[in-house]
Amino acid sequence: MKATSICVASLFMNIGYASPIAGRDASEIASYSPFIFEKRQGPGSYYAITGATGGVHPRVEIRDLEKAGGEMWNLFLLAMTAFQAMDQGVLDSYYQIAGIHGMPWTSWDGVEGSGADISGSQMGYCPHGQALFGTWHRPYLILFENLQKVAASIANTFPDATRDKYQDAATKIRIPYWDWAKSLPTDQPVVPTFVSTEKATVTFPNGTTASIDNPLYDYNFHPLDHTQINGTGCTLGTGPSGGLPSVCDNSLQTIRAALNASDHDALNRNLRRDLTSRRASLYAVLSQYQTFTQVISAQTCATLARVGNLESIHNPIHNAFFPGHMSPSSVAAYDPIFWFHHANVDRQIALFQAVFPDTYLESCEAATATYTIQTGTSLDSNSALTPFHKNAAGDFWTSSSSRNIVDLGYTYPELANGATNESIVASIKAQYSGPSDILVTTSKTQLQSSTTAATELYLAEVKLPLYGLDDGDNGAAPYNVLLFLGEPKGDSNDWAFGENFIGTVSSLGGRNIQMENTTPAPIDLSATLAKAISAGVTTNEKAKDYLKTNLKYRLELGGVEIEKAKVSALKIYLISTEVEIAQSDDTFDRWVGGFKEHGRIEG
Ligand SMILES: *[C@@H]1O[C@H](CO)[C@@H](O)[C@H](O)[C@H]1NC(C)=O
Ligand SMILES: *[C@@H]1O[C@H](CO)[C@@H](O)[C@H](O)[C@H]1NC(C)=O
Ligand SMILES: *[C@@H]1O[C@H](CO)[C@@H](O)[C@H](O)[C@H]1NC(C)=O
Ligand SMILES: *[C@@H]1O[C@H](CO)[C@@H](O)[C@H](O)[C@H]1NC(C)=O
Repeated sequence: MKATSICVASLFMNIGYASPIAGRDASEIASYSPFIFEKRQGPGSYYAITGATGGVHPRVEIRDLEKAGGEMWNLFLLAMTAFQAMDQGVLDSYYQIAGIHGMPWTSWDGVEGSGADISGSQMGYCPHGQALFGTWHRPYLILFENLQKVAASIANTFPDATRDKYQDAATKIRIPYWDWAKSLPTDQPVVPTFVSTEKATVTFPNGTTASIDNPLYDYNFHPLDHTQINGTGCTLGTGPSGGLPSVCDNSLQTIRAALNASDHDALNRNLRRDLTSRRASLYAVLSQYQTFTQVISAQTCATLARVGNLESIHNPIHNAFFPGHMSPSSVAAYDPIFWFHHANVDRQIALFQAVFPDTYLESCEAATATYTIQTGTSLDSNSALTPFHKNAAGDFWTSSSSRNIVDLGYTYPELANGATNESIVASIKAQYSGPSDILVTTSKTQLQSSTTAATELYLAEVKLPLYGLDDGDNGAAPYNVLLFLGEPKGDSNDWAFGENFIGTVSSLGGRNIQMENTTPAPIDLSATLAKAISAGVTTNEKAKDYLKTNLKYRLELGGVEIEKAKVSALKIYLISTEVEIAQSDDTFDRWVGGFKEHGRIEG
């Protein structure tokens, strides 16, 4: 990722504009541009990340963006295409921005990391499992919103009749978010069809309408440089199927949920099977007070977050793409869906902040390393979010400076237009507290009837070692923990699709890290219990013993079983809490009286 040149996309867009749209080979475009100039990063000349300009505009749900269509949707597709086609040697190209997350293991914008002998040297800059995980992605996402510059220069090339509309769209363009916890009728895929089809239809500035390679479907490496991207960042070691190195080594484009070509049916099955459980986990984290530090990441420094945390909820989304690029952190950010996924995580953080504004990042020691953070470093809200510079002088973005999203030029639909705490609470409740298969829109605030007679909420508390599965190469392999009511059915490929499957928690693994430290990741058992009660196999009174006897778990990845003994620090407990049911649609149910512990689930 050593930048040899820097270029504002808008400059070359005016010149070589036709070619990035028509073809995907950008080396051509770069050669058109007289504006690419040599620039060495140093004080006074760092890349200043400012975010989108032109006011505060909402990042909208990607399905809503598509449904609204018009100039905005067309411009979004054209801009994503041109952004991806930028020369990979350019500092603010799609390729180099994606590369900050993991591979290549080199510096970006002159921000040097640890030497090759330090474990973090092969981790990229992304602080997984650290207190900074949530806020680090804020400047990262606004850096990606450089997409606006690309969009603005395309807008300028539309003819008089439509130029104003395109320029207005360019002002308002922001990264859309992909809400993977949205309730959807079962005939609707969790990954929207327009993200999973190979072609997209656009109208060019010259008025021609054409079918192009869909920029939301994949990223085409141009070229795939093996000295930068290769199988070393994607090994599973002693993990299950060993497919990943070949994906990273050989595939000229990003792939989803398969080895050789994206399998969106498989991906959608993986995402759908967890939807009920995922929604319950998210709703709990957004509705119950915990400190910001607890909520924001799967850190192991502060008091652990027993209600759950947003990083742990986000992990299974990555693993659902296994063995594709989204699953190994080293290459995840190359898949365009990474950005919509992380905009969604950022939105969840913003929703939590809006409801509980008085808590923010507390000081925390890094339990693991990144390229620039050594294990044991004390991190707090003023720690540099490397490698993101706020200005050319070289000041870094920090968690403090990215606390208020409005300062960064964006908001989210629930928080815009005079939102009040009541309207935000009502919206969170309407979107996430009801069943998973009934379409709820953000504007609707009516609560699905989710209240039951029982006020005792049962949870399986998975104490998950984030880096607990030895990959045989000094690091940790990714894995999923699957929870069932009764023995899982069929072979390991079928387990998660059986009727008795409850939910998943996931570890993404990590290079050169092995640790027994665990983070609690609860799985809500209310839907499962309600089903068992209505089937007459147990009652509220007998629930505790029934669950303790019948809950079973397995470890796997991609349908391949992993022996439980290989993750010896993993433990699962049955816990419960009393729930005080809210009396109105704009207040939350409250978990009261702390957690009761009912012993270990051994199944
Ligand atoms: C319009 O622009 C597109 C993209 O640059 C190009 O492929 C197409 O040939 C152009 N159509 C006409 C009629 O010039
Ligand atoms: C594989 O990629 C890594 C990360 O960029 C790099 O450090 C390493 O040298 C590459 N390996 C080869 C054989 O090129
Ligand atoms: C993937 O492609 C390789 C060769 O490139 C082939 O050996 C393998 O069978 C393919 N796998 C699948 C699942 O199609
Ligand atoms: C918003 O409402 C929720 C739920 O009723 C409450 O817990 C929270 O403290 C309120 N936040 C603010 C800022 O008023």
